[in-house]
Amino acid sequence: MAYFASSTRYDQMKYNRCGNSGLLLPAVSLGLWHNFGGGGDYQIMKEILLRAFDLGITHFDLANNYGPPPGSAESNLKNVLQAELAQHRDELIISTKAGYLMWDGPYGEWGSRKYLMASLDQSLKRMELEYVDIFYSHRPDPETPLEETMMALHSAVQQGKALYVGISNYDAEQTSRAVDILESLGTPCLIHQPRYNMFDRWVEDGLLEVLEKRGVGCIPFSPLAQGLLTNRYLDGIPKGSRIDSESIFLGKDNLDPETMVKVKALNQHAEQRGQTLAQMALAWILEKKQITSVLIGASSVAQLEANVATVHKLEFTRDELAYIENILV
Ligand SMILES: NC(=O)c1ccc[n+]([C@@H]2O[C@H](COP(=O)([O-])OP(=O)(O)OC[C@H]3O[C@@H](n4cnc5c(N)ncnc54)[C@H](OP(=O)(O)O)[C@@H]3O)[C@@H](O)[C@H]2O)c1
Repeated sequence: MAYFASSTRYDQMKYNRCGNSGLLLPAVSLGLWHNFGGGGDYQIMKEILLRAFDLGITHFDLANNYGPPPGSAESNLKNVLQAELAQHRDELIISTKAGYLMWDGPYGEWGSRKYLMASLDQSLKRMELEYVDIFYSHRPDPETPLEETMMALHSAVQQGKALYVGISNYDAEQTSRAVDILESLGTPCLIHQPRYNMFDRWVEDGLLEVLEKRGVGCIPFSPLAQGLLTNRYLDGIPKGSRIDSESIFLGKDNLDPETMVKVKALNQHAEQRGQTLAQMALAWILEKKQITSVLIGASSVAQLEANVATVHKLEFTRDELAYIENILV
């Protein structure tokens, strides 16, 4: 059946300004790291992407290596874009990144100009796009001068292959330097993509402050701690969940007793708020003024819909925040 985008797609979502830029991003964005690879069910991917668009999610986040195999998430996105969303390209913010291992030899990862430029060309080819909206340096490279990596991002914009640039996984000090270099080149740093959730709060130790001061947006990844901050594992490990899968990024070890005590207490409080734990975990991040969007993953339309509904209840009282803080310490 042909897809027609919902005429109410912009009615419910909230859009936040990305730092000091002119760009608005949806409060909830969708990442294609898991569940969009070569071995996945194309029909489900398509349904998730189209439902996301219908719910006002204008931002899809990718990287060269998303799959498996690496590159296949970009290829799958291409198929959905061409078949269903082609006429909506100007309504979409599509990002990709380069930084992790993509091909053999000394130029297949990290932060050299050689790698970044080649990787972006490959991503554009896989997605059959003329440009991406945001191109990221996926991780800082301790061996390559930061100037070279930032110059490559700047070149991507100058060559019309990216509209904006961002950095991911850079600490506060590296971020400060990257922002300076990009500013001097005339290509501002649009956004930072760090891991941030109730269980991993390293960004509160300086990074958020830098981003706010420098007018850079922030889009935390794994805001649900890959599913730990949901009701997914409250009664064990369900079939087909990320822990049940081959994922090397989340395992049984993550369900240690100390974590589960916190998850249960948080879940109880979320229920009292009239939200699911996932919704409360997302709202808790979005409540911070430096945050532009939360970058979620989803393995089903139902998860996506539930997570997007977060935007209906984002407020916390001081007492609630203190109560949550007590659970988390
Ligand atoms: N820049 C980087 O270095 C980096 C690194 C990692 C990720 N990212 C980006 O961040 C995106 C999101 O990362 P993530 O997938 O780890 O995010 P996440 O939102 O923390 O976790 C998503 C997973 O949690 C489970 N889930 C989601 N909503 C749920 C709900 N309502 N109820 C129950 N379970 C739910 C699903 O797992 P099940 O499979 O168990 O259903 C889902 O795949 C990625 O796609 C990628 O774009 C970036």
